[in-house]
Order: sequence, then C-alpha cells, then structure tokens
Amino acid sequence: MYGNFTYNNPTKLYFGEESLDRLHDELKNYGPTVLLTYGGGSIKKNGIYDAVCEILHSEGKRIVELSGVMPNPTYEKVLEGCQSVRDNNVDLILAVGGGSTIDYAKGVSASAYCEEDAWQKYWVNQGNPDCKIVPVGAILTMVGTGSEMNGGSVITNRKAGFKLGKVFGPSLYPRFAVLNPRYTMTVPQYQMVAGFFDIMSHLMEQYFAGTADCTTDYINEGLMRSLIHSSRIAAQNPQDYEARANIMWTATWALNTLLKCGKGGDWEVHQIGHAIGLVTDATHGMTLASVSLPYYHHVMHDGLHQFVRFAKNVWNVRPDGKSDEQVATEGLKCLEQWMHEIGVVTHSRELGVTEQNIEAVADAVLILPVGYRTLTRNEVIEILRESL
Ligand code: NZQ
Ligand code: ZN
Repeated sequence: MYGNFTYNNPTKLYFGEESLDRLHDELKNYGPTVLLTYGGGSIKKNGIYDAVCEILHSEGKRIVELSGVMPNPTYEKVLEGCQSVRDNNVDLILAVGGGSTIDYAKGVSASAYCEEDAWQKYWVNQGNPDCKIVPVGAILTMVGTGSEMNGGSVITNRKAGFKLGKVFGPSLYPRFAVLNPRYTMTVPQYQMVAGFFDIMSHLMEQYFAGTADCTTDYINEGLMRSLIHSSRIAAQNPQDYEARANIMWTATWALNTLLKCGKGGDWEVHQIGHAIGLVTDATHGMTLASVSLPYYHHVMHDGLHQFVRFAKNVWNVRPDGKSDEQVATEGLKCLEQWMHEIGVVTHSRELGVTEQNIEAVADAVLILPVGYRTLTRNEVIEILRESL
C-alpha cells in the first residue's frame, strides 16, 4: 500500500427491508423543516413517498417539497433548490431517489448559502465550501452511483457546455442512508442494468491504475465477482431479493472511497460518458457501457499486467500457453460477453452519438492525466468513432 491516505466515511447506513423504520430515530437529530426532494414521480407510484411522508408527519416535521429532479440534474435546478432552502430555512435535505436526486441534494446543500458563483467555485474550480451547509439524508431507490455514501455531485450546465463532477468532502456525504433492496424492484430493466454497469465501471476505473500488489485490488476483485454473479441472476429475474440486495451493497462499496486507498484511479471512461450525457442526455450507466470496450482495448497495452490480472482473477481466464496480450484480450472478451448477457448498450449510436455530433462530444471530454495513458483529443475521437 503506497502513499498516505485518510479513510473517513461518516455516512451511517441502514440496510434491509425494515431499514426505513430507522428514519424515526434519525429525524430526531434535525430541526423541524425538511426539504423532501425527489425525481419525476416514481416514488409516488411505488408507495415510497407515502411511507416517507408518514414518518415525517409522525415526527412532527414541516415538509417542503421539491420534485422534478431530472436524470443528469441541471445547475438551473440546483439554483431553484437553493432558493427553496433559503426561503424555508431548511434543517435537513432528504433526497429520495437515485444518484441524480442525491447528487442534486448535495449540490443544493453546498450552494444555498454560497456567496460566490457556485458553479464556478465547486464544479469548475473544484473549490470547497466555506459557507453554511445543510445536512443531507438519503433514501436510495435506484442502485449504481454510490452517491448514498460519497461526496460526489455530478451536475450538468448546458449553458456552460459541461457535465462536471465535484467530489465534496465528508461534511457533504449523506449523514445517513436508507438502503432497502425492495425499493429498487420497480426500477425499469433498462435503468436497472445501466446501474449494474455503472457499478462495474466504478470498480474498473479504480482497478486499472497502479502497478503494486495492493490489498485494495483484492477487495475490488471480490466486489467485481459478486456483481458479475448477482447481476446475471437479477438480469433474468429482477425480483430475486438476494441478488438485488447483494448488488445494492456492492454498489455502495464500489464508490465510497474505500477502493481508492493506496490506488490512483483512471476515470477517463466517466469523462467520456459525461460528455455523451451532456450532448444526448442518455442514461449515465449506458454512456459508460457504450465506450468502455473501445477504451479498454485502447489502453490495454499500457497497463498490460493489470489487464492480465483482471482476466485471471475476475474472469477465470486460464493463462496456460498464452501470451499476456492473449490473456488480457480474453479478459476483455469476457467483459463484453457479460455486457451482452445483462443487456447493456455497447454502441454509442444507440444513445444518439453520430458522426455529426462526435466533435461536440469530444469538446466536452475532460482529459485527465491519470490512469495508464493520457489520451490526446485525437484518441478521444478515435475511441468515440470505434464506439459508434
Ligand atoms: O425520477 P424518477 O421518477 O424517480 O425516475 C428515476 C429516473 O427516471 C428512475 N427510478 C429511480 N428509482 C426508481 C425509478 N423508477 C422506478 N422505481 C424506482 N425505485 O430511474 C431513473 C434514473 O434515476 P437516476 O437517479 O438518474 O439514476 P442514477 O442513480 O443512475 O443516477 C445518475 C446520476 O448520478 C451521477 C450520474 O452522472 C447521473 O447524473 N453519478 C453520480 C456519482 C456520485 N455521486 O458519485 C458517480 C456516478 O459515476 C455518476 O456520475
Ligand atoms: Zn458512474
């Protein structure tokens, strides 16, 4: 384990079918006004909204509602939330939804009392809040992003022409998160498998970095194997509780800072995915799925030892009599096969990327100087073209 790191994750997790009951105790820690924020209305159809409101009422809370948080939440919507927080003197922001709603809640929390231009300060300049922040709590309804136990807040600003992530420090992590696997059972299949790929992508983004024999890689491989196993079951039978529960737990650990301990990280697939999301408004996990294969084939030779390890330890590829290139390529073939099995998109044209908008996508890609290879803009275009 190289380097120095601090591991501090303050989010308290309540997991399981009865986990919402614990909201009663949690609410006692906060003042009377709760901003209840959610997306386009799925929680009203599946009963989660009623269950949450009943608890809020029974604990004597005043509920201020802020609905309509869209997938790929926008900065304009963040500003609307900020106004509501200030107007109502909100004591707790309770986000009920997937990554978009929870990311949004963090963005509102950090921006409501920010005296500067919050977009510029946090998402462009990657600064940290020095103003009052409002505590955030999360009730997770869709699995994938890990937002329930991290400081990530990915916001789209179409006027500025960017979808950017800001990773806030522990003060912006949800104070608590309710993880009831049953709540994820109504997620449509397309969104569900997109979430599965998002988890795999988080694992791979952190795995494909570094050259050391790192404990974190062994943890990561265990999570990948669990995800692959359970996702195969869930893709066939989404109502399988055990599989969905395992995946929910894996998703949280895939991006709650544990797996970056002693590692660097790549994150270029996410940068390309965010640019596709900006231009097409496609589902996050699918944007990653659409470019991952061309990307990993592109950088395979730069991190060959790790791609060999991936093939052997994650996909059980037998190395006997094969070159490292052959083993690594077989590992990526297994990844591709699994993607087809669970049913994710493998071509960006399915999401609306075309020869005509490829330059616009490339313009919005942040090129990070990390991972096994720093791409040039031409390489980004090449990868995008291969992804079509
Ligand atoms: O809006 P509603 O009506 O609730 O419908 C949502 C939405 O349409 C639906 N849904 C969620 N739970 C449901 C459900 N439908 C039926 N039953 C349920 N139980 O699913 C759709 C997608 O929801 P969304 O929250 O957008 O999905 P996801 O969790 O994938 O979040 C995506 C956002 O998170 C960001 C992405 O960039 C994207 O903006 N990310 C956040 C990260 C973080 N905080 O660390 C890291 C990730 O890499 C990612 O970038
Ligand atoms: Zn992601």
